[in-house]
Amino acid sequence: DTFKIGYFVGSLASNSINRVLSKALISVAPPELEFHEIAIKDLPLYSSDYDSDFPPAGRDLKDAIAASDGILFISPEYNRSIPGALKNAIDWGSRPWGTNSFARKPTGIIGASPGGIGTAVMQSSMRSVLSFLDAPQLNAPEAYIRFVADAYDDDGSVKDEATAGLLRHYMEEYSAFVQRVLAANAPGHI
Ligand code: FNR
Repeated sequence: DTFKIGYFVGSLASNSINRVLSKALISVAPPELEFHEIAIKDLPLYSSDYDSDFPPAGRDLKDAIAASDGILFISPEYNRSIPGALKNAIDWGSRPWGTNSFARKPTGIIGASPGGIGTAVMQSSMRSVLSFLDAPQLNAPEAYIRFVADAYDDDGSVKDEATAGLLRHYMEEYSAFVQRVLAANAPGHI
């Protein structure tokens, strides 16, 4: 079996280190995972005014989440929290009321920062948001990546063996977690 993973990159920067990390994660992921990016850059700022007539950008986002077996968030930390563009996308996916797209979706959260704390506080904020949205989360391993450019090649492959091993382990555990949640969500289970 293969599993469709929709991933969000929480940065809009053209030279994003988190986009490098996304390529690295895909390059070491186990073969049963298929990846497609869920783009956030063209979403307007969410308002409940949109709920009565949800625009195509919002519907596309919700369709992309629905079509995913699992969701992976790869994001920087902004001011010790979730970047606004990513939070906006999550708000879109959570609405209109009663149609929360994240409910029961297995999720993973990972991020890179040049700094030593390596997105830990953003990830903690994300866990609160995803808990409220009833999205199961990979609890362990955690991965707070302090980004070192030398560890990656331009094509996104990982040059540094220790980094590759850490990211590979994360993706193997994420894949197993997605499959456990899908089994638990299957008809017949409570
Ligand atoms: C940052 N940065 C940052 N880093 C961090 O570890 N904790 C933080 O709270 C913040 N806050 C923050 C706010 C804003 C507005 C910016 C632009 C940056 C630094 C950040 O980690 C660095 O710019 C990364 O390169 C951002 O990730 P991308 O965009 O390269 O993927």
